[in-house]
Amino acid sequence: MRNFNEDTITDAVVERLAHATSPRAREISQALVRHLHAFVREVRPTQDEWMAGIEFLTRTGHMCTEMRQEFILLSDTLGVSMLVDAINHALPETATETTVLGPFYLSGPPEMPLGSDISTRGKGEPMIVEGTVRDPAGQPIAGAWVDTWQADAEGVYDVQRAIGGAAELDLRARFRTDAEGRFWFRSIAPCYYPVPDDGPVGEMLKAQGRHANRPAHVHFMIGAPGYETLITHLFIADSPYIDSDVVFGVKDSLIRSLEPQPVGLTPAGNRVEAPASLLRYDFVLAAQKPEA
Ligand code: BEZ
Ligand code: FE
Repeated sequence: MRNFNEDTITDAVVERLAHATSPRAREISQALVRHLHAFVREVRPTQDEWMAGIEFLTRTGHMCTEMRQEFILLSDTLGVSMLVDAINHALPETATETTVLGPFYLSGPPEMPLGSDISTRGKGEPMIVEGTVRDPAGQPIAGAWVDTWQADAEGVYDVQRAIGGAAELDLRARFRTDAEGRFWFRSIAPCYYPVPDDGPVGEMLKAQGRHANRPAHVHFMIGAPGYETLITHLFIADSPYIDSDVVFGVKDSLIRSLEPQPVGLTPAGNRVEAPASLLRYDFVLAAQKPEA
């Protein structure tokens, strides 16, 4: 087979992939070629534009380190991460909705007793977070692990402050729900923040005329034996950028207002010694799907 032209090259490449090592490898490879060729046919790049694309991807790879994954950021900012999430999390209606994991999760965060303050620096507006973890029938799940992490009042994560040195853990912890499926902790209100925008993804956002910001949010990863692990955030109502999250992660069901909490007892009966803002949420885990 020779002499391929614009009209014949796609079918020739697709045909060449017919004997891939598995049906799935064939399906993925052939779809990749069809869509990539369709993109090039639509865009009709000049030779210089094509090279600029190659250089962009090369710089994206070079930007990746143990602490930074520029390709995931690219996927996030092009909406691909949320698309993959939507495809893979067709959960029962009652289950809490999912959103992106993001790059700032550390596995095995410090386990703390309920009611602990996760802010080691304490600089910011005090916030109490309380809620429950339940099954789809509304029954409390005791002993569920609740990992939480968030940016500080300046919109910075502990691991970002630690660049070049060891991370001093701040604003992250693991809690366990009590016998009634309840959890609560103290913190400070998070601020909106830009995703890392000093690399190729930042250049791309600028060229696309977009800002790099995420609205204020608190991350959660919640699990218990027999349930799907839930990866989600709570978004703070009225935060700047709530309607233009750079990674397309906001869902109405995950937005909550910070309510004023005076000294005394919270609605769940937790004692507060100084006025704070209160963030409440009842999470629902989906039952684990049987192995396919
Ligand atoms: C985050 O919320 O931590 C995040 C998510 C996606 C990209 C960058 C940051
Ligand atoms: Fe975040």
